[in-house]
Amino acid sequence: MKVLITGGAGYIGSTIAACCVDNGITPIILDDLSKGLRTFAQPYAFYEGDIADTKLLTTITTEHDIDAVIHCAAKIVVPESVEQPLDYYHNNVGKSITLIRTLSELGIKRFILSSTASMYEAGEDHLVDEHSVVAPHSPYSASKWMLERILSDFAHTGKLDVISLRYFNPIGADPHMRSGLQDPHPTHALGKMIEAHNERRAFTVTGVDWDTRDGSALRDYVHVWDLARAHIATLERFDQVISAAAQPGYEVINLGTGTGTTVYELAAAFQEATGTALEIVTAAPRLGDVIGCATKSNKAAELLGWQAELSIAQGVLHSIEWGKKLPAILEKENTLMAD
Ligand SMILES: NC(=O)c1ccc[n+]([C@@H]2O[C@H](COP(=O)([O-])OP(=O)(O)OC[C@H]3O[C@@H](n4cnc5c(N)ncnc54)[C@H](O)[C@@H]3O)[C@@H](O)[C@H]2O)c1
Repeated sequence: MKVLITGGAGYIGSTIAACCVDNGITPIILDDLSKGLRTFAQPYAFYEGDIADTKLLTTITTEHDIDAVIHCAAKIVVPESVEQPLDYYHNNVGKSITLIRTLSELGIKRFILSSTASMYEAGEDHLVDEHSVVAPHSPYSASKWMLERILSDFAHTGKLDVISLRYFNPIGADPHMRSGLQDPHPTHALGKMIEAHNERRAFTVTGVDWDTRDGSALRDYVHVWDLARAHIATLERFDQVISAAAQPGYEVINLGTGTGTTVYELAAAFQEATGTALEIVTAAPRLGDVIGCATKSNKAAELLGWQAELSIAQGVLHSIEWGKKLPAILEKENTLMAD
């Protein structure tokens, strides 16, 4: 099986590519390297360019018999999307329309979208499922929601079958360290924990009076390798899932753990992973902080036979290991770009 992965030089796309290879699937990468690394794409058939480049898409489908497309390419930084909404809608929605139209005209039938759980409005129990209210709070998550809506309408025409996978919060790296997060200073809680640990300072839990099991905010961290495995399951069961879908040609599946992890629980997993105590101080929530949510994972289990297998501590450990490897990778990347 050959799979085109747009954004395959990025964090999640490159992990999916590695997981494809491990499962006997051939990944073909399309990425403009605006955020992705050439180093991540190099082991595979790689096409450098834009998702809306119709000529390039024609070349790719002429050179390869593509069985399915996994669409990971997107701009993903929430604060940047607030500052540059048009760029986000143009890239994530406008260009994706060209991509979908072109792929469909070129005979592609199976399309998997990397979507996001950040579009959910959680209820009182902070646990969502695929029927929960959707109310995107940023241009980024709105762009993903718009694209889902467009894909659902297009799937209705019978020209493309689509499965939208709504990811929760990926952590970790490829356990074999072939790729991981490209950003040396991630701003999520785990990134800050690693930074605090490396600099031998206390980690600050911002917000300890939320209505959660221990008062700290809730996220649904999922090991990125588990996310990648979910894509393999989706590829393997694609036609079966689509033929049973309530809406013809279209299905949505959440990918999370079923319970989620609070910031304090993440800190405990961090200590388990590193074997060292992490000093914790507390502070009021920052402006814009949200309580967060986790997802029920029944649908993914039922339709894909998938559930998260790697622990949060393993995610922490792989993030730390990857962080040590990253400076050399970025140095190699600079040499490649200079050539
Ligand atoms: N990282 C998360 O927390 C998260 C959570 C939920 C969903 N997602 C979704 O997963 C997908 C992958 O995210 P990621 O974390 O790997 O981000 P990333 O930035 O590492 O990867 C995105 C890739 O897309 C490429 N790209 C962007 N626009 C392009 C274009 N017009 N043409 C070609 N390539 C383009 C970038 O160069 C990059 O390599 C995104 O669609 C994102 O919305 C991410």
